[in-house]
Amino acid sequence: MEKRELWIQENVKDEKVRQMIYKLDDCRELMAYYSCAIMEIETKFKVLNTQFAIRKSYNPIETIKTRLKSMESIVGKLQRKHLPMDAATIERELNDIAGVRVICPFISDIYMLADCLLEQDDITFIQRKDYIKHPKENGYRSLHLIVEIPIFLQGEKRPMKVEIQFRTIAMDFWASLEHRLRYKKELDSEVASRISAELTDCAENSAALDLRMEQVKDAIEGEKALPR
Ligand code: GTP
Ligand code: MG
Repeated sequence: MEKRELWIQENVKDEKVRQMIYKLDDCRELMAYYSCAIMEIETKFKVLNTQFAIRKSYNPIETIKTRLKSMESIVGKLQRKHLPMDAATIERELNDIAGVRVICPFISDIYMLADCLLEQDDITFIQRKDYIKHPKENGYRSLHLIVEIPIFLQGEKRPMKVEIQFRTIAMDFWASLEHRLRYKKELDSEVASRISAELTDCAENSAALDLRMEQVKDAIEGEKALPR
């Protein structure tokens, strides 16, 4: 038996408390594995970026941001879904514990990188939501993938789910501002809806700019002439 488990058996007399400690330990272990999965995915994108930098003198990735969902957010989400708080439920029901955001200069980079990732033989595709082709009503744009990636532990290979959000710099800029509004509680409802409308308009302008910039890039590369 592990040293810690032995210590708990000897020192924590209340069975209920003991079970709670075991559950928390399981969650802590699971969270550590999710952060390993984040590292694996981040490395894959860094490798791709390096290859493009060498072969094409071009970086399809501007920045990579990662985040592990906080325990507070996990508890909140499980409560909203009326689910019990344990490691098995978290792993089965939640897809966004491990999050990786890949910020690209152009929309074409996003699809190219998503394809490069999905064709790797240790990646299992779980879900795709294309909010670039089908933007949300508020104007939100991003390509979301849920994939499973194995992490290699002692004598064990463990598949872990990771949520990947691909955005252009402009999409990310917009989403950060919109996120601020989402968490601003003390706004008058009329003011809030005026801001929402303005944000949706900004999203349309921003998407149009992404498209124009892509066309300019294609023209510079000699791939396609600028549309008249
Ligand atoms: P959750 O929102 O995570 O419960 O899951 P879902 O199944 O609705 O997933 P979806 O793929 O639609 O969105 C997941 C994540 O995308 C969110 O947690 C945000 O990070 C981001 N996202 C989705 N919609 C919006 C939006 O309207 N505005 C912003 N700023 N971010 C969004
Ligand atoms: Mg989420």
